[in-house]
Amino acid sequence: MSLSSAAEAAPRSLAEPFRTRRTFAIISHPDAGKTTLTERLLSAAGAIQSAGAVRGKAGGRSTRSDWMEMEQKRGISITSSVMTFDYDGLTLNLLDTPGHSDFSEDTYRTLTAVDAAIMVIDAAKGIEAQTLKLFEVCRLRDIPIITFINKVDREGLAPLDLIDEIQSKLALDLTPVLWPIGQGVDFRGYLDLLEKRVVNPQGKPIAEYDAIEDLLDNAALVEDPVFMTALENLEMATAMLPGFDLATFHAGHLSPVLFGSALKGIGVAELLRTLGEWGPEPRPQPAIPAPIEPSDKKVTGFVFKVQANMDANHRDRIAFVRLCSGTFTRGMRLKNVRSGKDMAVSNPMFFFGNDRELADSAVAGDIVGIPNHGTLSVGDTLTEGANINVTGIPNFAPEIIRRVRLGDHMKTKQMAKALSDLSEEGVTQVFRRMVGADWIVGVVGQLQLEVLSSRIEKEYGVPITFESLNYEVARWIESDEPAELARFISAQKMNIAEDRTGAPVFLAQNAWWADRAKQDFPKIRFLTTKERH
Ligand code: G4P
Repeated sequence: MSLSSAAEAAPRSLAEPFRTRRTFAIISHPDAGKTTLTERLLSAAGAIQSAGAVRGKAGGRSTRSDWMEMEQKRGISITSSVMTFDYDGLTLNLLDTPGHSDFSEDTYRTLTAVDAAIMVIDAAKGIEAQTLKLFEVCRLRDIPIITFINKVDREGLAPLDLIDEIQSKLALDLTPVLWPIGQGVDFRGYLDLLEKRVVNPQGKPIAEYDAIEDLLDNAALVEDPVFMTALENLEMATAMLPGFDLATFHAGHLSPVLFGSALKGIGVAELLRTLGEWGPEPRPQPAIPAPIEPSDKKVTGFVFKVQANMDANHRDRIAFVRLCSGTFTRGMRLKNVRSGKDMAVSNPMFFFGNDRELADSAVAGDIVGIPNHGTLSVGDTLTEGANINVTGIPNFAPEIIRRVRLGDHMKTKQMAKALSDLSEEGVTQVFRRMVGADWIVGVVGQLQLEVLSSRIEKEYGVPITFESLNYEVARWIESDEPAELARFISAQKMNIAEDRTGAPVFLAQNAWWADRAKQDFPKIRFLTTKERH
């Protein structure tokens, strides 16, 4: 491993303001320590006074009833907020993602708005289901990942075993930055391979070196078998793993790995340093007709999230926009490419959890919240007039499909409005079958249904319930041969619906029928995701 090459990673030019932005998310399985790490990072950067100041954790450990209560008070994803803070001359935008797996769709979209991710892994558990899922989303866009192996203050799997597991399960190369000396009760501190020093559990450097072998002259260290084992393991890791390479990291193929403890604040400052020094600046955004370069002069951005009722006092609706290029200033007129309509953005906001302030200007990488009354939907692209569409903000095929039953038939209109609003927010997908007048909703998790009915009742005064339909699978259908698509639609008339954009969707009783249709109509593509615009 060439640690020297790591230390020599060239500092990048900060001349253009967007180059100082680091926009990232933390991904993890519930309970791995994401909330604790978020607090520690904010506190290490001086953004909050003490750990414990940021709360709002939903899903995860809290019970369902807790969650529903919070949800009703503050809107759907109270955890999915933005925290913007300064660190070492940089502006860091941390996009929080809800931990509850029922809201993975929301999480996926949030990940379209980041340039890097910190993957938190519990040292005792290794790669868990949700980590794997989220990692796969990052991989779709080759998002660079920094790995933080948490809870070294407790007994866990051996460092080499963890590295082996991550490499094989994720097919991702790792390169160590912080190496633990012992674990659990034997935890003696760590080697900071970048600064070339040994640090004790209190964060105090106790030895420095040029080459690792120099440490063998340090009698106090060499006497300790725990230290010697750590050194041997590091040697093996060094022989086995590639050295750090900035380009490979930025391409999403190599992950710097730090062992630490969020709870004890071990390795947190170094994590911040790794993100600041190596973390990518805003990356080009995939778009049609061409990718958007952050250095492009004209403003572009896209809505990755819409959140209603963030503030119980104002029944507001905030569209979170990730800027992709240009310098946005308050009052600017931007065009929503989907609707073709211009809007004056007079009250853009920056967020820190639930606190907000007016945003006077923002650049690529920044996240601004735009209050609106339904003009902006998830997936919308905003420009200074150009017809550009950001891509890669998908809808996922729903896993639960239900017919909506209205308690009061006088309220059909309100229900239609509610479903349309909430589908624009990305809370649910709404389908209308070609035959019949049913309203059908599709979601990825059961909890989403509960949230849906509770919000529709509370915000629109319409009581609804859901009825099972004989469908388990939904697939968007496409074909290069329109006649073939028409043939399929006519053969399956009863099972074809339209989504909110009018795109045809095939509803199948179960996976077997979906498969059968695929075999019978090989010229049709049955898609599990669809771009939102
Ligand atoms: P999450 O957001 O990923 O779901 O995890 P969270 O930070 O809430 O942490 C989950 C549990 O793991 C918490 O304990 C937390 O204190 C603990 N934890 C986080 N980091 C570390 C660490 O570095 N070492 C150790 N030993 N524990 C850690 P809890 O008992 O479930 O909750 P709490 O009562 O402590 O809040």
